[in-house]
Amino acid sequence: MTELLHRDLLRGRNVFVSGGGSGVNLAIALECAAVGANIAICGRTEAKLVAAVEQLNEFGVKAAYAVADVRDEAAVAAALAHAGDEMGPMDAVVCGAAGNFLAPAQAISTNGFRAVMDIDLLGSFHCAKAAFPHLAETRGTVLFVSGGQSQMPFVHQAHVSAAKAGVDQLMRTLALEWGPLGIRSNSIVPGPVEGTEGMRRLAETAGDDAWQGMVPLGRFAHQEEIGRMAAVLISPIASFVNGAQVVVDGGMAMSGSARFNEAVLSTLRPDTRV
Ligand code: COA
Repeated sequence: MTELLHRDLLRGRNVFVSGGGSGVNLAIALECAAVGANIAICGRTEAKLVAAVEQLNEFGVKAAYAVADVRDEAAVAAALAHAGDEMGPMDAVVCGAAGNFLAPAQAISTNGFRAVMDIDLLGSFHCAKAAFPHLAETRGTVLFVSGGQSQMPFVHQAHVSAAKAGVDQLMRTLALEWGPLGIRSNSIVPGPVEGTEGMRRLAETAGDDAWQGMVPLGRFAHQEEIGRMAAVLISPIASFVNGAQVVVDGGMAMSGSARFNEAVLSTLRPDTRV
């Protein structure tokens, strides 16, 4: 856990993290708790949420969870209401819940495309919208967890690329609409992060080597490196940062997705090559 940030950086602030039961979103929750934030999380799997709350409790902060699929607007609203009842209005909402799988565009069913759009884009909208009354009261901040696919096309990621591009334009629009109310809106763009479900899915065809080869720093991110930057963006250190897409990818955006694309396409039979 980080000792690089002041231990009271977010002391007493309330942070809601969707998808906070695991992966990068849990890392964000843990780094915020490490610097004093109370944390409310939601997700689909109660066992993961319970285990995450146990970890969060170790920081001596308040921690609460609600089972909610971000695709369900009413469930998200109930989760935010529960968080508010437990700890008061939220100072920050992290829209992190996401879904992904690798598939060529022509093999993605309407339902599959919709599942990712609904989790990543609509789910982020549900969280930000449900948090709005909290954030208007606290002059708080919304942080979206975007992806490199937002700017850079990756093969077999048509659905995710569309969703993440939407997430970033939603973020920028809220920066304009909610900025005058004192609410900051930003996104964080993690590069490949070690030990996450998302990375497991993305590496299953391309392999770890293709990914690491795309990162000028030559390695995957540690989860806490993403969590720590998220904590900074939520904190007053970033008090004048609004409408920013903050890339935390070891420089991957500069080298592009060509190596990944070639690794994935080379696994396909010639007759299915795009
Ligand atoms: N290739 C092609 N289509 C796929 C697929 C794959 N690998 N995986 C799922 N789909 C399709 C399904 O076939 C289904 O479409 P259909 O009804 O036309 O057959 C559709 O996606 C929905 O799948 P389902 O499993 O019913 O949806 P879900 O809501 O339970 O799950 C997903 C949503 C698909 C995004 C699932 O992968 C998920 O829950 N992911 C969460 C974890 C995750 O992805 N973490 C990484 C985040 S970066």
